[in-house]
Amino acid sequence: MTVAELLQHTAQRLAAPELVSEDPQQEARELLAHALGTVPARLRADTSVDPHAHGEFIRLLARRLASEPTGYIVGAVEIDGLRFKVDRRGFIPRLDLPVLIHAGLEGVGRDAKGFALDLACGIGAAGICVGHARPGLRVDLADVSAEAIELARENAELLIPGRAQAYAGDLFEPLPRGRKYQIVTANPPWVPDGTELPEEVLNEPHVSFFGGPDGLDVVRRIIHELPAWMAPGGIYAQECDPSQVEKVRGLLAAAGLREPKAHADKEGVKRVVSARQP
Ligand SMILES: C[S@@+](CC[C@H](N)C(=O)[O-])C[C@H]1O[C@@H](n2cnc3c(N)ncnc32)[C@H](O)[C@@H]1O
Repeated sequence: MTVAELLQHTAQRLAAPELVSEDPQQEARELLAHALGTVPARLRADTSVDPHAHGEFIRLLARRLASEPTGYIVGAVEIDGLRFKVDRRGFIPRLDLPVLIHAGLEGVGRDAKGFALDLACGIGAAGICVGHARPGLRVDLADVSAEAIELARENAELLIPGRAQAYAGDLFEPLPRGRKYQIVTANPPWVPDGTELPEEVLNEPHVSFFGGPDGLDVVRRIIHELPAWMAPGGIYAQECDPSQVEKVRGLLAAAGLREPKAHADKEGVKRVVSARQP
């Protein structure tokens, strides 16, 4: 079979609703590229797949069909054109993360100087993408999980070497006192306690998801402390569930931030809120 034929069949299979794939075509490309010892960008549609690679591909696909996330199978995820290392130490960034990254970036110029912060950063993808797009910024990455922070540090060293520091601890607590940020991005836990999650998702560290009875306990703590950490005119952007967007805008306005604004993904679903420090 050729690469194109295998991708077509596999994407159809991965589109089954119970597999909760964000992008079946992209997952198929990741799995096949891994079986062929390459990356998705190097796949060529008319290459024929030899029996050895085909066997390996079928083994990888079986793991995915048994609910193992593709990110953990291939050990990588691609966000905004950058390839990040990912494993069970961290949450796998979702493919809509660029909505958060661009909501942060649109608030500061290309020549911005100073510091950016990715709070509850997981493997560091949002902060590292911000740093990659704004070479004048240094990036602080912070997460309560020491294991995720190891991985964030590894990713930062590969992708923006020498420009990031990674801190393990509760929210702002491990960060250098007095530091002021031009951009803060955050995709913290925001799922209401008790929500049933699909098996794929439960493979990931549980500290990533639950945020109290209405999901916003961590968000409220972040927004309460946020103004003291923002540079004048700095931009805050955070992800949340679409049903929480209005509440988060209200929390930001009540904390004194200006221009609270919702940002939509490709499907028009609002899932990111940004606001500016006066
Ligand atoms: C939904 S995951 C998102 C990770 C990353 N921002 C991303 O989008 O890929 C939430 C992250 O919040 C972190 N977290 C949970 N509670 C935290 C706290 N109190 N302080 C800092 N990080 C926290 C988890 O360890 C997890 O990495």
